[in-house]
Amino acid sequence: MPLTNVILTGFMGTGKSTVGRRLASEMGLKFIDVDEVIEKESGLPIGEIFEKYGEHHFRKIESEVIRKLTSGEYGAGLVVSAGGGAVISEANRTAFKRWGVLICLSASPDEILKRVGTNNDRPLLAAGDKREVIERLLKERDGAYGDCDFTVATDFKDIHEVVGIVKKFLRDRE
Ligand code: S3P
Repeated sequence: MPLTNVILTGFMGTGKSTVGRRLASEMGLKFIDVDEVIEKESGLPIGEIFEKYGEHHFRKIESEVIRKLTSGEYGAGLVVSAGGGAVISEANRTAFKRWGVLICLSASPDEILKRVGTNNDRPLLAAGDKREVIERLLKERDGAYGDCDFTVATDFKDIHEVVGIVKKFLRDRE
């Protein structure tokens, strides 16, 4: 099957944007970060969208960006990083899987905690004890992440290894 688009999703801190940028550059494809498009289109940082309008409003903007993206408005032959909550919606998941290959990056709660550190720019993690929030959200999202085309466990792997596994998966399915 000819490769058109690759979408990386997975929980916060699993390395979607870093891996996505590297993957795009190695494959000679353009990289798009859904969160960056949301910030650009709304003129506000993600944290402020949550603060001023709430998560429901953020999800509406996110789904609209995904609708545009998967209907070809941003072009094709793209590597996309989609925020960890973008695929909770079955409609978004289905749209992504029709448009390209949906790949989930996973990590253990300990690893996620290490990677997100004390950084408070992720509004969902700022609302309470970080470990508790991470464990709860991972449980809630288990079905959605499990519904992706392929998952790469990223604990104990550097970016080269993760990119290599994704590229091998894409090659093998051609
Ligand atoms: C979210 C993840 C964030 C961002 C928003 C919500 C989530 O993106 O979209 O804060 O629900 O998991 P990253 O996964 O890139 O941090």
